[in-house]
Amino acid sequence: MKKAWKAAMLATFAVGTLVMAGCGSDSTSGSGDLPQVGVAIYKFDDTFMSGVRARIDADAKGKAKVDIVDSQNSQPTQNEKVDLFLNKKYKAIGVNIVDRPAAGGIIDKAKAANVPVVFLNREPLKEDMAKWDKVYYVGAKAEQSGEMQGKILADYFKKHPEAYKSNDNVLHYVLIKGEPGHQDAELRSKYVIESLKNEGIQVQEIAQDTAMWDRVKGQEKMAAFLSSYGDKIDAVIANNDDMALGAIEALKAAGYFQNGKYMPVVGVDATAPAVQALKDGTLLGTVLNNAKKQGDAVFNLMFVLAKGETPTKENTGFEIVDKQYIWVPYEIVTKENADQILGDK
Ligand code: GAL
Repeated sequence: MKKAWKAAMLATFAVGTLVMAGCGSDSTSGSGDLPQVGVAIYKFDDTFMSGVRARIDADAKGKAKVDIVDSQNSQPTQNEKVDLFLNKKYKAIGVNIVDRPAAGGIIDKAKAANVPVVFLNREPLKEDMAKWDKVYYVGAKAEQSGEMQGKILADYFKKHPEAYKSNDNVLHYVLIKGEPGHQDAELRSKYVIESLKNEGIQVQEIAQDTAMWDRVKGQEKMAAFLSSYGDKIDAVIANNDDMALGAIEALKAAGYFQNGKYMPVVGVDATAPAVQALKDGTLLGTVLNNAKKQGDAVFNLMFVLAKGETPTKENTGFEIVDKQYIWVPYEIVTKENADQILGDK
């Protein structure tokens, strides 16, 4: 009995050591035969990507050594990081590309070194994806998030016709855009409007500008919109939550969200501060951009590829579409389902 207990303790200790060995980014000491993989994030200072990165790091524990690096929003810096991964003969790499057209060059190099690549969040062009069969993409369908934002706003205006400030039944909106050229910025901006129209809402754009996914820039752009157009604005559409939260700050400074003065604002991502804003009643709605599932898909793909296996639904847990893509669905999040959605994911 005692012996069995001791053996169990030793086994637990051994597993514990193994798990510890896989801890943290770039944990190299004592990690035995764990495969080494690397991930280059476009910039660490991005709220949504921080969630994806944390998940990849957590998933790797006990399974692989993962070196996650910051490309500091510079393509030359990212190219250097990727060269280093390839020189060190990492078994598979993940790339959150800085400039989408630069993916082709990275694929050429990875192919020459025979190191499979998983792109994430910033989708390479189709012709680049076609360059090699060991190239994958993990992301979400940008058009779906735009459609969902449109649905949230349409529901609101159908329930609150008094929210049309000009009493003309036309929704006059301002749009705060993410990084131009990013598929999520372009397609969300397009599909939110199409979806509103499909819902039978008449729309008119008052102004739009980019705030590069950034909260402080979102606040500045919204302050400028308010000083130019003030009470003419019926709603604020932001391509992500950070910019929506920035806009809410500017609105608060202009007296909104108190004494019955309200402005519907929608975002995308469902980050923790955005969900708090939903609960506070400032953010009208957002769309879950599932950081955890995207992190899981990226890690599982890299892990399978690092072992020299071909990714399938069985070994990654995700359906592989057209042999190269994993799509993680978006979901509408409002005050009503916020806790449930976040608890589940
Ligand atoms: C989007 C996300 C943004 C930002 C961007 C970075 O999917 O909604 O908040 O993280 O990716 O590429």
